[in-house]
Amino acid sequence: MKSLFSLRKYILRYKKYILLGFIFILLSNVFAVVIPPIVRESVDGVKLLVDKGELPSFAQDLPAFFQTSSGLALFAGLLVLGFALLKGLCMFFMRMTIIIMSRHIEYEQKNDIFKHYQKLGQGFYGKNYTGDLMNRISDDVSKVRMFTGPAIMYSLNLSCMIIMVLSLMFYTNAEITLYVLIPLPILAITIYLVSDAMNKKSDRIQRKLSNLTSYAQETFAGIHVVKSYAAEDDYTLDFESINEEYKDDNIALVKINGVFMPAVMGLVGLSILITVYMGGNAVVDGAFSIGNIVEFIIYVTMLTWPVASLGYVTSLVQRGAASQKRIDEFMNVEPDEDKGKELIAKLSKSIEFNNVSFCYPETDVWVLKNVSFVIEANEKFGIIGTTGSGKSTIAKLLVGVYRPTKGAIIVDGLPIEQYNRSNLNKLFGYVAQDVFLFSETLRDNILFGSTDATDEKNLKRAIASASLDIEINGFPKGLETILGERGITLSGGQKQRAAIARALVKDPEILLIDDGLSAVDTKTEVAIKNSLHGWNKSQTFINISHRVSSVQDCKYILFLDHGTIIEQGNHTDMIRLKGLYADLFDKQMMVED
Ligand SMILES: Nc1ncnc2c1ncn2[C@@H]1O[C@H](COP(=O)(O)OP(=O)(O)OP(=O)(O)O)[C@@H](O)[C@H]1O
Ligand SMILES: [Mg+2]
Repeated sequence: MKSLFSLRKYILRYKKYILLGFIFILLSNVFAVVIPPIVRESVDGVKLLVDKGELPSFAQDLPAFFQTSSGLALFAGLLVLGFALLKGLCMFFMRMTIIIMSRHIEYEQKNDIFKHYQKLGQGFYGKNYTGDLMNRISDDVSKVRMFTGPAIMYSLNLSCMIIMVLSLMFYTNAEITLYVLIPLPILAITIYLVSDAMNKKSDRIQRKLSNLTSYAQETFAGIHVVKSYAAEDDYTLDFESINEEYKDDNIALVKINGVFMPAVMGLVGLSILITVYMGGNAVVDGAFSIGNIVEFIIYVTMLTWPVASLGYVTSLVQRGAASQKRIDEFMNVEPDEDKGKELIAKLSKSIEFNNVSFCYPETDVWVLKNVSFVIEANEKFGIIGTTGSGKSTIAKLLVGVYRPTKGAIIVDGLPIEQYNRSNLNKLFGYVAQDVFLFSETLRDNILFGSTDATDEKNLKRAIASASLDIEINGFPKGLETILGERGITLSGGQKQRAAIARALVKDPEILLIDDGLSAVDTKTEVAIKNSLHGWNKSQTFINISHRVSSVQDCKYILFLDHGTIIEQGNHTDMIRLKGLYADLFDKQMMVED
């Protein structure tokens, strides 16, 4: 339950709502508990009138119309109706305050979680599943809302009602009250056990349902693979078996549910039986009136719902607490604060890797080992190497997604950590190896992260330089074409070029392309490289590639293998070495020939 304390900042912010809600709860209960005494008085009054021909004292001043037996009943009925309406009104306002508060809290909590997620480092995302992140911001927040809304409202309401009804009952007749209450604890325990079983079942069902959905989702996403391997039947069978488990659990839940209401009604019936029996005896003894029996029956029915829902409310609280604990687990992860203060507008000297070693968080594999090199400003720098040698890792270190585990990266004389990250990143136009495009228009994707009006002017030029103009003109909606699930899917090469256009549009100081031309043919690659050349002559260009042809005109080239630099220099030096680079060059030339 401790975890619920972390909600106090939200609840305190809305204490007015709770206070108002509590007042409405009190009022609605007052209006509810006045009804049984009214019924008692009217029953006893009618009996007095019929048996002895005497008017009950409360009817003395009523108009003559009400002074008959049916008139008395009508009068009581109208009073009951009036109070019931008042009670209903208060219940409406009780929802309008407390449930609305829970919606506000839900809204703020979701925003807070999303904001926090954005600040968490790459290491966090490497460790946790996306589905898990999503669940906490949607499912868990909803469960917490069931606590801040219904659970708080019902708890206040139930306690109020139980205290008021019991006091009235004890005030009227303590002995009979004790007897009448005997079945209620059994009722509460039964209901608690049943709802616990129901909750466990529902949780399992929820998990099965999400298995079922993810299975279906993954199948549809990879449908072309499924079909090309003729695996449809296997998938159908698997789906059927997951679906069957889901159905079986649901049927079990229906059974538990089926027992629930009869059990409640049986125990309530028992209480009513006791009331009538004990009350009847008391009437014979003269300690109780017939009206009292009716009054007690109403009390018992009034208690049924609060007692029956105790189990439900308890489980709401428990689930809310469990969910809040899960949310807190992520909220307590220290955000990757950007402590850097230095600002930089352009790269004037160099970027230097100084004995950099790197190991991805939560792993103990050194993917870069003592790597040192210097990228001079305004020059073309090439990185080539075997697959998995750490090229993309260097790119991620450059843009500050990760920090070096050992060693330092020096940008214009200062360690990279001292720069304000978002400011430093403005220098880079980064084309990552795994291009990610959003399900938005092509224009929004290319202008992603742009705030500048000049970017809009650069748009056409960037698209042309990335050799994407002819294709875009071919789309019926041009730049306004929506990509991804809701629209056109681009080919691998088109995606890469869209990403290049995205990087170019900002006219970056440093262009960093990680294998960005691997999916285009050599002719297009040459065309793009020529136009990149003309884009901004004084631009630093870091090109990571598998192809020698792609980096051979660079001023300086690194050849990476297993996280270390094994050859470096310009193209002519490297060929003269007759090492791996020269080998690769020969092979690739042969293939091209
Ligand atoms: N997020 C990650 N977490 C843990 N290990 C990773 C992660 N990304 C890459 N690695 C590992 O780091 C090593 C270097 O990966 P990297 O992506 O830098 O290679 P690369 O040279 O770019 O390869 P390629 O030419 O295939 O693109 C690989 O062994 C890879 O398994
Ligand atoms: Mg790579």
